[in-house]
Amino acid sequence: MLAAAQSVGVELQAVCGGVGTCGQCKVRCVSGNLTEPTLEEFEQLGAAGIRTGNRLACQAIPLSDVQVEIPPESLTSSQRVQVEGGGQCVPVDPVLPLQELASRRPILGLAIDLGTTKIAGYLVDLENGRTIAARGRMNPQIVYGEDVISRIAYANKGEEARRQLQEKVIEALNELAQELCAEAGSSVDHIFEAVIAGNTAMHHFFLGLPVEQLGASPYLPASTQPLYQSAKELGLRLAPDAKVYTPANIAGYVGGDHVAMLLGIDLRNCPQPALAIDIGTNTELTLCANGQLFSCSCASGPAFEGAHIQHGMRAAPGAIERVRYESGEIQFYTIDRQPPTGICGSGILDAIAALLDADVIDARGNFRKQATGFRAGVSENEFVLAGKEQTNSGNSIVLTRQDISEIQFAKAAIRAGIEVLLKAGNIEAKALASIIIAGAFGSYLDMRSAVRIGLFPDIPFERFRQVGNAAGLGARLLLASAVARRTAEGLAEQIQYVELTNHPAFHEQFVKALSF
Ligand code: FES
Repeated sequence: MLAAAQSVGVELQAVCGGVGTCGQCKVRCVSGNLTEPTLEEFEQLGAAGIRTGNRLACQAIPLSDVQVEIPPESLTSSQRVQVEGGGQCVPVDPVLPLQELASRRPILGLAIDLGTTKIAGYLVDLENGRTIAARGRMNPQIVYGEDVISRIAYANKGEEARRQLQEKVIEALNELAQELCAEAGSSVDHIFEAVIAGNTAMHHFFLGLPVEQLGASPYLPASTQPLYQSAKELGLRLAPDAKVYTPANIAGYVGGDHVAMLLGIDLRNCPQPALAIDIGTNTELTLCANGQLFSCSCASGPAFEGAHIQHGMRAAPGAIERVRYESGEIQFYTIDRQPPTGICGSGILDAIAALLDADVIDARGNFRKQATGFRAGVSENEFVLAGKEQTNSGNSIVLTRQDISEIQFAKAAIRAGIEVLLKAGNIEAKALASIIIAGAFGSYLDMRSAVRIGLFPDIPFERFRQVGNAAGLGARLLLASAVARRTAEGLAEQIQYVELTNHPAFHEQFVKALSF
């Protein structure tokens, strides 16, 4: 399989050159038959790993057509970016009169996933649906507040503040459109349509809508309708007659980006009942059960992105991204196999699962003081993940009791949200035929660790699907297809929104979900 992957340009990591000793070429077999696992595979993946379908691409030989999933960490880092960027085609059902525009070719569209922290942009050829350039950048509104709440507070200072937030994002989108066109060798005059999919607050900032009501219960959006606007009037420098489409918002904290994500994963056609989750500072969930759709949003905080964690960092070279309890020892793996510089979100989750496996912490998250690696730190108890002799800085990398609490609160919020939705849909967790996890963090998450700490219900691993930036894909579908717009509008209309802040079952479920 390693040779097959290489022959089609899928760059799997293979430091040992394919002899089965580095374990980096791990893939997961979804369907089809492979040769029996080799001794090397048992050594690298463990019997439990093999039972869940994991294999080493350099060892396994297909005996039939096979379908495999490649976890992001098995790809070289340059390829990870490429995969996230897309490159694929979306079906075309023209929104624009392509014939009339034929003299102004190429006919391009701009799809934007407008996140609180990051903005992802895609330039799409509207005649064939192909993504011809993809780029990401930070949302410059971050200088007015890290999260949605602080940005709403800033906007509430007055008209001038709201205008600043709008100008910042428009400026960033203009730059992004320029960069994408430069990459594709084209010009912004050829962008005839744009789709901007953002959470409700980002949507409102972009359109200059009032946001005061988003900051207080019952968190009502100023608009829940899909909207068409003139790009020029908004200040976007595209073709002079270009239009901007923004998908419908569901509620104050479930926005058009979630609708785009549901479209991107084709929720209705996933094995049913299905639960779709977009993990971020704010986590949006939708349950599709018995023909009904229920959505909610939980404040999961930035801990999964490495924020508010003592040695947390974003997923960059040197970040501890995997932690395992193997052969009686806690072992870690860093991005690009660099000396450790911190821990990123997936590493933190893994570390907690490994500490539970190793019996270093108990179900309440407290350290067992006699455990190897435990120490009473300067201000609080901690576990030494990487000793100072292993780091370039000469400082050890630790996981503190406070870090564990941050994760406990984040995972309890999400798990309680899941339980409330299951109650609304009147189904049990074990009845879920699929759990689809979207978002950048979601694609790097190890499902075994996520289930081990209780973030997700304990259902067979093959029912989980990690899909990456599905909102970006949804935005591209909305850009190229009128059918997709109708589907998204239908989804938005059918969703029954469940408000968690005053939900009678939420608090009880949250407290229950705090323990591991
Ligand atoms: S390439 Fe090293 S184990 Fe497969």
